[in-house]
Amino acid sequence: TELSAAQRIAQVRDVLGSRLTIMAHHYQNDNVVRHADVVGDSLELARRIPDLKTEFIMFCGVYFMAETAAILARHFQKVRIPDLDADCIMAAMAPASRVRALLAHLASTGKRVVPLTYVNSSAAVKAVVGELGGAVCTSANAEAMTRWALEQGDAVCFLPDKNLAMNVADRLRLPENERLLLDVRGDGRNVDMKAAANVRLFVWPGMCAIHHRMRPEHVEAARRDHPGCLVVVHPECRPEVVRMCDAAGSTRRIIEFCEQAPQGSTIFVGTEINLVKRLAALHAPGKRIVPLIESACENMGKITEEKLAFCLEKLLTSCKVSVPEDQAKLAKLAVDRMLEAGA
Ligand code: 13P
Ligand code: SF4
Repeated sequence: TELSAAQRIAQVRDVLGSRLTIMAHHYQNDNVVRHADVVGDSLELARRIPDLKTEFIMFCGVYFMAETAAILARHFQKVRIPDLDADCIMAAMAPASRVRALLAHLASTGKRVVPLTYVNSSAAVKAVVGELGGAVCTSANAEAMTRWALEQGDAVCFLPDKNLAMNVADRLRLPENERLLLDVRGDGRNVDMKAAANVRLFVWPGMCAIHHRMRPEHVEAARRDHPGCLVVVHPECRPEVVRMCDAAGSTRRIIEFCEQAPQGSTIFVGTEINLVKRLAALHAPGKRIVPLIESACENMGKITEEKLAFCLEKLLTSCKVSVPEDQAKLAKLAVDRMLEAGA
């Protein structure tokens, strides 16, 4: 009889033993998460990499997360992803060549603009940012890292997520005239630096469609139909949504919010559906956890138990995540600046 995917995964595990670590992001579906040694948000997963001693790191998440693992991995470690096409759409909105052109244009004006890239970006973008003295941030530390970057120069260029950037600007109480949503078509020369004399936060116009779909009317409907309910969302949501909520924060923060809410509460959660469903099952029946809207990340969903089994069986030859050495070195500068800032 044919073995199930779960049995095939168990078989490879038996053979490899402590030579293998399977990591999974919280947005992965349950069939994948149940095989993971480490489950976390993007910051937690990145933080765990430097301490891993295993030869193989199987990363169940989107490609930039596996690339970040490859950047932080030691020379003897091999990073794999069950589907090489699991690409974050937001990361794809900031091609490295355009980022480089824009930052060169900003620098040519004499203003010291420190680049800060959300971890949802390619290794090539992280390398550009690292080379220019900038850093990486995640949704968990975006506010602290923006503060750090503002201290390093005259202004910050935050990329690629405009929603996260504007939410941070709100938290830092940055006046409207000190923020500029960039038009990055072409080579960035259409940014009028004279008009931008006061700007302290340049914002790349990317976003996550999965979170951008959540709108103020969804929060209004939740509050109208469930008086007394709580609403928590991810900061990749629009600022006008975040402003209406009880809390906004990274995946970790959302998990904690649900843990800390009183028994009997109804909590609307605005983030990827796999996480919301898992939280709902975990807290039922004491707390009612409801998706603000059903929004799934198709790219996270490309990782399946079947592909995980296949990739584990072909570990030596397939699903390789590699970052060119020069690029990895520069990108690591940017990631290390985040890890060292301790934010
Ligand atoms: P976290 O940093 O909260 O894990 O989020 C990653 C992500 O891709 C959100 O869409
Ligand atoms: Fe990227 Fe959005 Fe998917 Fe997160 S949910 S991996 S930001 S596309």
